Amino acid sequence: MAEKISRFSDQAGVFFQGFVKHPRMVGSIIPSSRFTVNKMLAPVDWANCRLFVEYGPGVGTFCRPVLERLPAGAALLVIDTNPLYIDYLNRTIADSRFTAVLGSAADVEQIVRQSGHGHADYILSGLPFSTLPDGVGPAIVKATHAVLRPGGAFLVYQFSAKARSYMARHFTSIDSGFEFWNVLPCRLFWGWKSE
Ligand SMILES: C[S@@+](CC[C@H](N)C(=O)[O-])C[C@H]1O[C@@H](n2cnc3c(N)ncnc32)[C@H](O)[C@@H]1O
Repeated sequence: MAEKISRFSDQAGVFFQGFVKHPRMVGSIIPSSRFTVNKMLAPVDWANCRLFVEYGPGVGTFCRPVLERLPAGAALLVIDTNPLYIDYLNRTIADSRFTAVLGSAADVEQIVRQSGHGHADYILSGLPFSTLPDGVGPAIVKATHAVLRPGGAFLVYQFSAKARSYMARHFTSIDSGFEFWNVLPCRLFWGWKSE
């Protein structure tokens, strides 16, 4: 219990430091709730997941639950622009299936190729699409659609519906949800790439 409390306050502190340095890139002062994590990950077909990619992992709120569900031999590749978060993740997550890359989600195609994979099965995004610099959000969604395998999905949670308008340009099937128990309550989207 004491270890859990210490890890929680450690994570909250690092997350807040990252927010103070880059408020528009982080877009939130505290990490997502476990209700958001569970709802967002519920539709994933874990048995058929070889590569799971996450954009904007922050201090790893989703990384640990993803690793708990991911089969042995599969991989979790996370991409974040903030070196403070990448350094924290590399210090605190010891799992051979885990790789943290300092970079932008806009370069996902190149990053996935460099990791030795041809495509991703699922891509999760915690990016604050509403406050990203002009043009970056649409470019990320386009690259995401290109690198997903047919039948794979783009999982997005956000305080606004901005991301959905970008997703609709590429994904013909988009499921929507809502999670009240999160600071702030957030919208959830699952964009499925056609088979
Ligand atoms: C709202 S935080 C999400 C944190 C965490 N996933 C959670 O749910 O608690 C947004 C994250 O996106 C990262 N970020 C912003 N722009 C990015 C980009 N272009 N590529 C990758 N990560 C980015 C920020 O550094 C930050 O870690």
